[in-house]
Amino acid sequence: MIRVFRTIPEWLTFRDSPECRGRPLGFVPTMGALHAGHAALVQRSAEENERTLVSIFVNPTQFNDPRDLEKYPRTLEADLGILERAGASFALVPDYRELYPDDYRYRVQEEELSKLLCGGQRPGHFDGVLTVVMKLLNIAGAGRAYFGEKDYQQLLLIQGMVRAFFLPTEIVPCQTVRQEDGLALSSRNARLTPEQRNAAAAFPRLLGSTLGPQAIREALTAAGFEVDYIEERFGRRFGAVRLGEVRLIDNVEI
Ligand code: PAF
Repeated sequence: MIRVFRTIPEWLTFRDSPECRGRPLGFVPTMGALHAGHAALVQRSAEENERTLVSIFVNPTQFNDPRDLEKYPRTLEADLGILERAGASFALVPDYRELYPDDYRYRVQEEELSKLLCGGQRPGHFDGVLTVVMKLLNIAGAGRAYFGEKDYQQLLLIQGMVRAFFLPTEIVPCQTVRQEDGLALSSRNARLTPEQRNAAAAFPRLLGSTLGPQAIREALTAAGFEVDYIEERFGRRFGAVRLGEVRLIDNVEI
């Protein structure tokens, strides 16, 4: 049975108790609305650590569009069921005031990579991500933390932050989980209409094709996507597109 911690002090007391101290712990931070992609991160952690902590916190500081934050699905009961089946031992569900006692006066900023790709389109997004991940890694106190490659830019930034600040947690990258037609699993997929969901499969197909970035952009536009960017960096091709109000991101190795 998964044990749910509703406050940070409750978790910290348990983490430092003889029952928990010194035993291998894996950590998976999430914003809830969990799907098979999150379950795969938890399963990997459960294979590699005696116990796994998952945090569920919809982090307002990483949403630069308040409508996006408002629409973000909140599905706590279903999430706890998914976590339990995937093998998580503990869930931490803190609230904003507890996690941000400073009301975000203190923040972690990266000055280069965070300005590119999604950072160019969403000012301040990665400040919010890095700040909350720094807080959560410190609170979790785990040996390893698991992050999906779907958010590859986020993964690189978190790896860089861990190195820059000598954080004692190993960051473990995990492969993107895809549906049969190639669409990367994302909590945002639930907001696609059935027609948009069908159309969405063209995004990973074109991103992984032999076409160049400009030709991919044109083909996506012709297929009804609004293209935020298609760019090649770090030996990967990155893309962000919109279908109606839903923004999808993906990346593939090239
Ligand atoms: O990838 C996510 O779900 C979020 O950016 C994270 C890492 C949980 C921070 O809020």
